[in-house]
Amino acid sequence: MKLWLAPAGLHIEPARTQDADAITKLHAQGFYRGWSREEFAAYILDERTPIYVACDARRRVAGFAMIRHLGEDVELITIAVDKKWRKKGVGLALMRALFDDLLMSPAKRLILEVATDNAAAMRLYEKLGFKKVGERKGYYPRPDGTPATAIVMARDLG
Ligand SMILES: CC(C)(COP(=O)(O)OP(=O)(O)OC[C@H]1O[C@@H](n2cnc3c(N)ncnc32)[C@H](O)[C@@H]1OP(=O)(O)O)[C@@H](O)C(=O)NCCC(=O)NCCS
Repeated sequence: MKLWLAPAGLHIEPARTQDADAITKLHAQGFYRGWSREEFAAYILDERTPIYVACDARRRVAGFAMIRHLGEDVELITIAVDKKWRKKGVGLALMRALFDDLLMSPAKRLILEVATDNAAAMRLYEKLGFKKVGERKGYYPRPDGTPATAIVMARDLG
């Protein structure tokens, strides 16, 4: 059984179908454009798109991270922590759990995109050793109609 310890009595494990509602709500809280419960329920069942949840003993979900396997590359599709649980090390613990799990896979590199105006996420990734490998101008839609630039970052695994 896959299980990693996280701060404040939480633990991290692979998501189950029953987590789809909580994941959908958290994603909608963290991002301008959310995905539906059905989309997340399908991703949970698809081994190419593992989702990891940080939750308590009653399975109340405080955060999640989702990746997609692309051969030697793995992409971080999304990560979000509940507002109440932010700045307690949960995001860091989720990232470390997925690094650990990826040691058992053929993946050699983790890549991600982050908006230049997302200081919290940029710091989190820099802290974990990610380096900028590219830039995508006008990548993220924003409510005011001025799209944000994405930085592409990567980190070797293992
Ligand atoms: C980004 C996010 C997942 C971080 O989760 P978190 O659990 O709060 O992060 P952690 O507590 O593990 O913080 C780890 C490190 O990230 C950085 N960080 C986190 N929040 C930060 C903030 N508000 N401002 C600056 N740096 C921050 C810090 O370097 C921190 O380490 P430190 O506490 O030792 O200084 C969370 O802010 C979130 O869900 N944001 C909305 C969704 C999102 O933007 N996801 C990323 C998309 S690319």
